[in-house]
This record gives sequence, C-alpha cells and structure tokens, in this order.
Amino acid sequence: MTSLIIDTDPGVDDAFAIALACASPEVDLLAVTTVFGNASLETTTRNALRLLALCGRTDVPVAAGADRPLVYPQEHEADRVHGSDGLSGRAHLLAPGPNEVSELDAVGLMARLLAEADEPVTIAPIGPLTNIALLLGAYPSLRGKIERLVVMGGAISGGNTTAVSEFNLWSDPEAARRVLVEERIPTVLVPIDLTFQCMVQRPWLDRLAASGPLGETLVGFTTDYVAHYTAFFGKECTILHDAIAVAEAIRPGLLRTRSYPVEVDCAFGPSRGALIADRREPEIVATFGSKLARALDIAVETDVDAVLEYLLSRLAR
Ligand code: RIB
Ligand code: CA
Repeated sequence: MTSLIIDTDPGVDDAFAIALACASPEVDLLAVTTVFGNASLETTTRNALRLLALCGRTDVPVAAGADRPLVYPQEHEADRVHGSDGLSGRAHLLAPGPNEVSELDAVGLMARLLAEADEPVTIAPIGPLTNIALLLGAYPSLRGKIERLVVMGGAISGGNTTAVSEFNLWSDPEAARRVLVEERIPTVLVPIDLTFQCMVQRPWLDRLAASGPLGETLVGFTTDYVAHYTAFFGKECTILHDAIAVAEAIRPGLLRTRSYPVEVDCAFGPSRGALIADRREPEIVATFGSKLARALDIAVETDVDAVLEYLLSRLAR
C-alpha cells in the first residue's frame, strides 16, 4: 500500500492523475492539496473537490495552498492550455459534491498527515512546487516522514513554457530550486523529456471515452488541451504529464531513471526556471567536477505502450 498525497493544479492532466490514484486499490490517498498554476487557486481547488466527487472519493480531504509563487510574481496564461476553468471549459459539467475544502491550509494538512503517519508518505507534486517548499521550510523535522517525492516537472532538452523551461518549474523557480536542489529527500523528477515520449493520440482517447462514464468525462476535459498539443507537435495528440508521474508514484520503477547533477536557473534572464542537468558521463564529471549542486534521479525512459495500457486499464470505468 502506498500512502500518497497529491499536490496539484487541476488542470486537465492533473484530472487524469487524480482519477488514476482514485482508481488504484494499492493507493491510500491521504489528501489532495492545491496550488495555483494551470488556473487560479480558487479554480484549482474547486476542480480538485469536484474531481474527487466524480471519482466517488469525497472522503479524501482537499486543502488549498499557495495562490502565487514564493518570492517573485509570474504572469500566468495557462488558460490557453487548460481553458479558463482549468478543464477546457467543461468544469461546469462536474457536479459539486458534499465535500468542502479543509479548514487547514495545504501545508498544515500535509504536516498533520506526515506527523500522524505510521509509515513514510509519498508526495506527488504535479504543479508548481510552492507548497512543498513551504512545507519543508516550515517543518524540516518532517523530512524523515516523506518516503519520496515524485515530481512532474522540468525539461532537459527544451521547454514547453519557454524555450528552455517547463511550466511547473517556470511558475516558481525559487520553490523548485529549494525542493530539487537544496533538499536531499529521495526524489524522482519526471520531466517533459519523458512525458513527451508518452504521447496519446485519438485512438487512445476514443478507447477511454468508450470505456464508461468516467473515461468519457475525462476525455471531455481534453478539448483545449488536445488543441494545444496538436499545435505544439503538428499532429492530433496530447500529453498526460501528471498521470505519468502519479503512475510512477504508484508503481516505483515504472520509469527508468538516471542520476544527474542539477541546478534550477533563478536568474532573471531568458532561461529563468530552466532545469540544468549535467549529463556528461560520470567519469568526466568525476574528473572535471560539476558545479551543479545535487545529483537527482531523473526519469529518462519507459515502456511507453505498457504505461499507456496501464493508464487505460485503470481509468476505463
Ligand atoms: O508542464 C506540464 C505541467 O504543467 C503539468 O503538471 C501540467 O498540469 C502543468 O501544470
Ligand atoms: Ca499539473
């Protein structure tokens, strides 16, 4: 059994990730905490509540976290990717459930759950890392209660939000650097270099839509999201980044990783928010050294067909 907290900015691919966790009997989903990113905090929090209701999991607490980056403001225009409501304009089709946002904020709920946990907890941050940086800053003594972080974010060979930066790290570079570079908590980073390999196209979406009401609803959220990635790649497709990361959180080792020294660029230049990974051979790095601060496990490859079939098998309901 994997005790799991998902920190999220739903968000179309976040919706698939949350549904995957809810559909996985080997997951004890302790909480969903929300953060700004794909939409405003108010919107991501409302979407999280309603997505859990859609999945029949109103028992899972939802706590709202940061509504902006740690230090510097960052103009967000994600509505061009996920729609103004975070779900391709279809969020209104989600019926409100009986569940309401927790009286605790995201950091407070995560801290309580970690403190009370009998076993260490996996945290899957799939949005900007602001809540996680705040958690670790406020509760350093709880580091030992975190089994591992499985983070969706970063780009090694070219970004999605800028030429070199990926949206989650770009949204709050200072928070990303704190979590990915300054900390030593076991962490797997799932960059877009990996998630782009796991592209889904229309036949996969059609199979999911035809599988049942949940699949049909999830695919209904993808209209704007498919349009964005169709323009991005020049063919009809989309990328369920967050679902790939949560799949790794549920099935450790699903994604094959390599350890690279990393840095996050927090300067105010054209590469702000970029992940810098030193991919030179270890012998070279050992000989010439690396000025990069921390060796981080980064997902580099997987059995794409197996991963997509796994997602479909779990989400088809
Ligand atoms: O760059 C992809 C990431 O940014 C995903 O988590 C997506 O939901 C957006 O938050
Ligand atoms: Ca996300």
